[in-house]
Amino acid sequence: MQKVHITASHSYDVLIGPGLISKAGEYISSVSKPCRAAIITDDTVAALYGAQVKESLKHAGFTADLWAFPHGEQHKTMTTLAAALEWLGETGVSRSDLIVALGGGVPGDLAGFAAAVYCRGMRFAQIPTTLLAAVDSSVGGKTAVDLSSGKNMAGAFHQPDIVLCDTDVLGRLPADLLRDGSAEMLKYGMLVDEKLFDDLSSGAWKGRIEETVARCVAIKQDYVVQDEEDQGVRQFLNLGHTFGHAAEKCSGFTLTHGQGVGMGLMMASRAAGIDTEPVRRALLACDLTPECPYDAAQLAQAAYSDKKRKGGKITLVLPEKIGKCTLKTISVEELPCYFAKGMGETI
Ligand SMILES: NC(=O)c1ccc[n+]([C@@H]2O[C@H](COP(=O)([O-])OP(=O)(O)OC[C@H]3O[C@@H](n4cnc5c(N)ncnc54)[C@H](O)[C@@H]3O)[C@@H](O)[C@H]2O)c1
Ligand SMILES: [Zn+2]
Repeated sequence: MQKVHITASHSYDVLIGPGLISKAGEYISSVSKPCRAAIITDDTVAALYGAQVKESLKHAGFTADLWAFPHGEQHKTMTTLAAALEWLGETGVSRSDLIVALGGGVPGDLAGFAAAVYCRGMRFAQIPTTLLAAVDSSVGGKTAVDLSSGKNMAGAFHQPDIVLCDTDVLGRLPADLLRDGSAEMLKYGMLVDEKLFDDLSSGAWKGRIEETVARCVAIKQDYVVQDEEDQGVRQFLNLGHTFGHAAEKCSGFTLTHGQGVGMGLMMASRAAGIDTEPVRRALLACDLTPECPYDAAQLAQAAYSDKKRKGGKITLVLPEKIGKCTLKTISVEELPCYFAKGMGETI
């Protein structure tokens, strides 16, 4: 088992290893006395792992209750959040109890937000069950729901008390969920770790899931520790995201986040003028499509309302080479130019 300690306003361990779901109660009892543990998840994950987590919590002396909402990003809403909060109230969950966020990034973000606001802030555990949640969303304390005006527009910074990442669960993931998580892992490789990037390009990482997830979490920790509230260096973690989010938006969100980020990594590389061939090869090796099906004008239009825009400025993350990137703040008027470069279009 690997352990990564996250140092933030509230510090905690991320445990990564086999069989952690069936020992969830044992590990959670290392950060909490037995109490009521309120599991919030989606229907798919509830059917796969709900009973196991509940049993394990009960075995460790917790009273375990579970609430599941329909799976999918379209349910990461204020309506679902309100239903979750009402359920916590009806179940009699009090401030001294604990919330367990079980699932991918959607239940993780939503249950995390519920934990941030219910009783003005609850302790909570994250049990990520997708690769994306394991390497990214379960760590760092960003919680949110989507509004009609945009993704993750309402949320809070609220760090968990423990993160349990079961590598057996990751080993059983369907190909599309591995693909989506790989895009975020490639992002970490392009940011600071050429070896990680090479492992993803060659597929070698699949034989070393535990170490690779731990490496990704450690990279994220390095940014979070310096800039928990995303005012400075944490913005590096948006590599591929301004471009990728525009692609997601143009598709009406039929492209997944991981697919968008994959295309975004390619566009960011081309916009920065680096050799895109290694990036293209790595994306293909991870089953991601390098080229975006929309044109620069459509993408730039979609990016205008990106929430990263501040007073007419957008900070782009541009690769200098694999393993090194820079931040570049541009005005929104320059966006079409960067999208044109990113798509290889002449201006
Ligand atoms: N908080 C952060 O820092 C952060 C970072 C990155 C992404 N995110 C958010 O994460 C979300 C995307 O995460 P995601 O891709 O995990 O989405 P998700 O939670 O919707 O999971 C994707 C699908 O996989 C299913 N699933 C989950 N675990 C499974 C398993 N073990 N086996 C089979 N199916 C399983 C889910 O039911 C769902 O249908 C987005 O909402 C994004 O905004 C947050
Ligand atoms: Zn992302």
